[in-house]
Amino acid sequence: MGISKELDGPFPWREAPVADYAVIGDPISHSRSPQMHNAAYQALGLTLRYTSVHVPRGEVTEALDHLKGLGYKGINVTVPHKEEVIDWLGDCDAFASRVRSVNTIRMADKFGFNTDAPAFMETLRLLNLPPGTPTLVLGAGGSSRAIATALSEDGYPLHIWNRTPGKARALVKELDLEDALAIDTPDIRGAGLIVNATSASLAGERLPINWDDAIPGAVAYDVMYGAALNSFLDEASLGGVRAVDGLALLVMQGALAFEFWVKKNAPHEVMWEAVR
Ligand code: ATR
Repeated sequence: MGISKELDGPFPWREAPVADYAVIGDPISHSRSPQMHNAAYQALGLTLRYTSVHVPRGEVTEALDHLKGLGYKGINVTVPHKEEVIDWLGDCDAFASRVRSVNTIRMADKFGFNTDAPAFMETLRLLNLPPGTPTLVLGAGGSSRAIATALSEDGYPLHIWNRTPGKARALVKELDLEDALAIDTPDIRGAGLIVNATSASLAGERLPINWDDAIPGAVAYDVMYGAALNSFLDEASLGGVRAVDGLALLVMQGALAFEFWVKKNAPHEVMWEAVR
């Protein structure tokens, strides 16, 4: 109430308004982070403002300098910049540095970290998918690196498939993942959890999965969310597989970012209601 939705964005980065926090990405117009964080500030009576800013590839450094100059306190980072932002940072936490994926920045000291991975693992606990569940991860970009590493560290046997197969092999080797194997076809046989960490749905493209191969009780989990989604989840549902989108993950990673920045408990329910 009383807060102008126009400030939610998106804005081209050169036209970004003065605000406290923002999410940057390309594309960015689908992002529900502004409504989620602004609802949280409002619920706690905080006079803070979160917006969304469009930053094309190759302009991340310039854009972050600009936003820092405008007084932004924190930035969330989404596709495709989670790796590129590291060049701009002064430092980042050990996990983010290992997986080369940062989704949360504290601007004052240019410090980056990753809330995707702990948030993702928290959602698995809520879904009752314990360590030991054989898991297929689709994709080998920044999101996959973070999620696959967290899964492997927590004891989930992994298969990793990527459209460009060499990247999946490089991921397993570089990150020295335990009990993880890069595979050349997205074979879901035996997988209790199938995680779509590709950005295929943003491009309106489908993944070559044969859902008839799913085992009983398998869960299809897309880390993305939104109305334009999502042939992956639609096809999984049609194949009788439980489909879970990335909304709970959005809320969980946003809550962790909120707590890191604002140093107060995040109002999870309010944030959840704001994005549903
Ligand atoms: P993010 O930060 O979300 O991981 P990214 O680092 O740009 O973004 O990675 C995007 C991932 O989605 C990559 O694994 C990419 O596969 P390629 O390595 O082959 O490019 C995957 N991806 C994007 N579009 C895809 C599509 N249409 N089909 C399959 N995979 C796709």
